[in-house]
Amino acid sequence: TGCGVLGLDTPAGQTGETLRSAVPLPPPYRVPLPIPAVAEPTGTLDGTDLYEITQRAADVEILPGLRTTIWGYDGTFPGPTFETRSGRPVVVRHTNRLPVPTVAHLHGGHTPADSDGWPLDLVLPVGDNSNWAHPHNGTTMVGDLAAGVREHRYPMTQRAATLWYHDHRMDFTGPSVHRGLAGLHIVRDDAEDALGLPAGDRELPLMICDRAFAADGSFAYPSIDRTLRTVPGVEDRWMPGVLGDVVLVNGAPWPVHDVDAARYRLRIVNVANARRFVLALRVPGAPDLPFTQIGSDGGLLAAPQRLDSIAMAPGERVDVVVDFAAVPVGADVTMVDTLGNDVMRFRVVRVARDDSRVPDRLADDVAPLVPGPVVREFVFRRGAVGPGHRGWTINDLAFDPQTSIADVPLGQVETWRFRTDVHHPVHVHLDHFQVLARGGGRPRPSDAGWKDTVDVLPAEIVDVAVRFTRYTGRYVFHCHNLEHEDMAMMATIRTV
Ligand code: C2O
Ligand code: CU
Repeated sequence: TGCGVLGLDTPAGQTGETLRSAVPLPPPYRVPLPIPAVAEPTGTLDGTDLYEITQRAADVEILPGLRTTIWGYDGTFPGPTFETRSGRPVVVRHTNRLPVPTVAHLHGGHTPADSDGWPLDLVLPVGDNSNWAHPHNGTTMVGDLAAGVREHRYPMTQRAATLWYHDHRMDFTGPSVHRGLAGLHIVRDDAEDALGLPAGDRELPLMICDRAFAADGSFAYPSIDRTLRTVPGVEDRWMPGVLGDVVLVNGAPWPVHDVDAARYRLRIVNVANARRFVLALRVPGAPDLPFTQIGSDGGLLAAPQRLDSIAMAPGERVDVVVDFAAVPVGADVTMVDTLGNDVMRFRVVRVARDDSRVPDRLADDVAPLVPGPVVREFVFRRGAVGPGHRGWTINDLAFDPQTSIADVPLGQVETWRFRTDVHHPVHVHLDHFQVLARGGGRPRPSDAGWKDTVDVLPAEIVDVAVRFTRYTGRYVFHCHNLEHEDMAMMATIRTV
């Protein structure tokens, strides 16, 4: 199972430990693909849309006939999808009706520091005035906090892109996201709308993750002790990452979706805690159906590119167009993970008119960043994170919320060099970067465009060009394997 000190990279290219479900699993491709509800503003003030989200537990049916208690934004998993416009600010007021503190982060958002979801900006449960003393350093978090409620102001001064939001509480992001605290946030703009890409029912969000189910129907997750850095009497509890044996798409196990023989836009998001996926589209008796990639983490690529398979680490997004008119009506197109998992199936059920197009030029604002002389190197590897405790480190340091590892001037284009021991998806808050080189050579095709998360392979060196354009303050970058993040593989930076 990849458990244990040496169980780092399993043969299937994963960094993690697979948990097995204790309940019978249904056959794949029976449950219809759910589409998360769209969040509706509760009001508008001076051109700013206001949203209210309540974080709460709910009982839902994920495996047929089994009740699973999730933690969800508005009690749903995934949470409601935000649909916002570039340049139109929004305020999201989160109310915490869960039993633990939470922190909401908009992944990929160009967000001022006080709304970004700093890992210690805890929102306490409504009505809970206890001191949530931090298990790592004993700091008392009360004082900064409004018990139960926090408003996040998102200027949305950024291009159209597929973002997502999720919990980000220091040391507890893995278990909280695993229980369901994740949702999609789509930013749209006029330039993209004018392209004529597939839209409406032919634009599908696909949030992919994996879970295992315990006998009582809950999502199986190891004892939280295992991710804490200071459990008295416990010397070396650390985790390579939590993997499950059921793939969920938009919260449904191996779902199926009926499609027209036409082009579809798929916004694919890897929301798994630790699992990587290498996606391909299988057609019986025919070659794989290709993807036309049109976007990545930070929105549209300059030009579309054809890919037969796409590797996605946790946190990454790819925006693709798939032309189901290329297969006969009646065919099944199965999205598989070539690392060994079924994902979902499309059934091509009818011929239909298709007025969509994929232009040869998609965007003009993907000019290469040209780095100046500053090069910062960050080494991601397993190491000591406290007396007698192993975890995951950056430059041999455990996450320290008090100390900046880099003070970066706004506007300066720098080279950041990432080097790792095992797979680590490296995510930088605040601004998107560009991948310059991978393993000493050219980036992967799917590294193209504006990125905020890059899948760094074992012993590989990845250079990215980083530039922060606005907002001074305190931010983080970290590994997006959430167990690694919780076990200290995160660093504080300041933009100055
Ligand atoms: Cu998706 Cu710092 O996180
Ligand atoms: Cu990692």
